[in-house]
Amino acid sequence: MNPAPTEPLNSVDEAGLSPPLLLEGRGITKSFPGVKALKGVDLKLSPGEVLAVIGENGAGKSTLMKILAGVQSHDEGELRIDGQPVRFSGVEDALGNGIALIHQELNLADNLDVAANIFLGREPRRFGLMNTSLMHAQASDWLQKVGLRVPPETIVGHLTIGHQQLVEIAKALSVNARVLIMDEPTSSLSQHETEQLFAVIRDLSAKGVAIVYISHRLGEVKALAHRVTVLRDGENAGSIEKQDIHHDQMVRLMVGRDVSQYYALKERQTGEVIMKVEGLRTPHAPEHALHFELRSGEIVGVAGLVGAGRTEMLQTLFGVAPAVGGSMWVAGRSFTPQSAAQAIECGLALVPEDRKQQGLILEMAIKENMSLASLRRDQRRGFLDFGSEQDIADRMIADMRIKTPSDMQQAQYLSGGNQQKVVLGKWLAMKPRILLLDEPTRGIDVGAKQDIYRLMEKLAEQGVAILFVSSEMEEIIGMSDRALIMHEGRLAGGLPRAELSEQSVMQLATGGDRP
Ligand SMILES: Nc1ncnc2c1ncn2[C@@H]1O[C@H](COP(=O)(O)OP(=O)(O)OP(=O)(O)O)[C@@H](O)[C@H]1O
Ligand SMILES: [Mg+2]
Repeated sequence: MNPAPTEPLNSVDEAGLSPPLLLEGRGITKSFPGVKALKGVDLKLSPGEVLAVIGENGAGKSTLMKILAGVQSHDEGELRIDGQPVRFSGVEDALGNGIALIHQELNLADNLDVAANIFLGREPRRFGLMNTSLMHAQASDWLQKVGLRVPPETIVGHLTIGHQQLVEIAKALSVNARVLIMDEPTSSLSQHETEQLFAVIRDLSAKGVAIVYISHRLGEVKALAHRVTVLRDGENAGSIEKQDIHHDQMVRLMVGRDVSQYYALKERQTGEVIMKVEGLRTPHAPEHALHFELRSGEIVGVAGLVGAGRTEMLQTLFGVAPAVGGSMWVAGRSFTPQSAAQAIECGLALVPEDRKQQGLILEMAIKENMSLASLRRDQRRGFLDFGSEQDIADRMIADMRIKTPSDMQQAQYLSGGNQQKVVLGKWLAMKPRILLLDEPTRGIDVGAKQDIYRLMEKLAEQGVAILFVSSEMEEIIGMSDRALIMHEGRLAGGLPRAELSEQSVMQLATGGDRP
C-alpha cells in the first residue's frame, strides 16, 4: 500500500527558497447552471514540468484548463503567473501571457488549409500583405516537428482526425508558449504519432516550457509526467510525485474504489452464424477480398494499426461505404446495404469513431439524443426489445454513470467523455442483432470503461453479435472471444481467445506470418 499522497508543502515557496511557480491556481471555483464543475481547486506548475491532470469523465479537467487558458472565467479563486495575480479577459490575453491550450474537441477551420489554420489571425505579413510563401515555409517546419507529412496547402477537412489533431498541436507549438496545455491530445493518434508527440513534449520540457497533460491513458501519464494531479468531482483528490506514479494508485485516487477486475474473461456460449461475409471488397481497398463469419452472442475484436482499414470495413458492413464486390448474408438472407438506413433495417447498428460529428446532436437534450424517434418504426423490426424512451434514458444514465444534472441537459454541456457515453448508450439500448463499435472506449475514463465492457457482455449474453474495432491491445485481448487482425486493407488472420497475446496480434498487424 502506498502512503496517502499529499500536496507538497507551500511554505518553501512562500519563504522564497525555491524558484517561483510559473503558474498557480488557488481555490478555483466554477459553476454552470445545475452543476458545480470546480469547487476550490488548487494547481501548481513549475517551468519545465510535465504535469498530468487526470480524473473521471466530468471531474472538471477541461473546465479547469479552459480557465487557465482564458476561454472561460472562474467564479472564485485566483490565478498567478510568476507569483503575480492575473485575470485573463480572454484567450488572446492568456496567449499574451504565454499560455496556450490544445482543446479536447478539435477547433480547426475545415475549409482552410493547414498553414492558414496554424497561423490563423497571426499570418506573417510583408508590407502589410499576407506573405503566403513564408507562411507555408514556417508551417512546414512546425508540421515536421510533430511528424505530420502533409503539404501545408492541404485543406484541413480532408485530413483524418488523427492528422487534424497533429495540426492543432503544431498550431499550439507555433505560438512559443511558456505553458502548453494539452487536453487529451493523443486520443486519435497512432502509436507512432504518439511517440513523436512525446519526443516533442520532452524537448519542450527540457527547454523550460511547462506542460499540462490530460489523458485517460494512464500508461502515457506514467511514461511522461513528473507529477500527477487528480481531480474528483471538481475537487483535488490528491497529487502523486514521479516515483510514486503507478496505475493502481492513479485509479484509486480517481475513482475512489478498486477497479482491478477489468475483464471478466468468461467463456461465452455463442449461437448460430448471424452474419457471413464472403469476398467482400471495400471501396477503400478493393484489391483485397474479406472473408469472415459472426455468430450471435459473440464478441469479436478487430485489431490493426491505424490506417489498416478497420473503420472502412465497418462502414462497408453498415452500408455507409457500399461494397464494390463480394457477398454478405444476415440471418441467412442476402444483405447488400446501400445506406445506413438499410443496414439498420436489417438489425445492424454502428457506433462511429468520430462520435461527436456522426452520432450526437449538440443542441439536443440527452434524452432526445438517446431517443429512437429518429428511426422509422418499420426500421425497428430487426431489433430486440427495448423499453420506452424515458426508460432508456434513465437506464443508460444510471448504467453508464453519465454525469449530468438531468436527462434534459443539452449534449453540448456534457464533458467530452460523457458525450461519448450518450452516443454509445443509445445504440447499446437498441439491442441490435449485430453491433458494430468503432473504438468504443476512446476518451472514456477507467471506471466507465468497465461499465461499457459489462454492457457489451450483457448484450452478448442476450444474443447480440458484437464486432468492435480497438487500438488498445489490452481491450482486444481482454474482451474478444476471437479477434480479426487487419493489415493494410486485408484480413491478415483471425485468432481465437486462447491464442490472443500482444505478440501474436502485433505480428499479424505488422504484416508478419501467423505465429
Ligand atoms: N458549458 C457548460 N454548461 C453546463 N455544464 C458544463 C459546461 N461545461 C462543463 N460542464 C459540466 O461541468 C462538469 C465538468 O466538465 P469537464 O468538461 O470539465 O469534465 P472533464 O473532467 O474534462 O471530463 P472528460 O474526461 O469527460 O473530458 C461536467 O459535469 C460537465 O457536464
Ligand atoms: Mg474533458
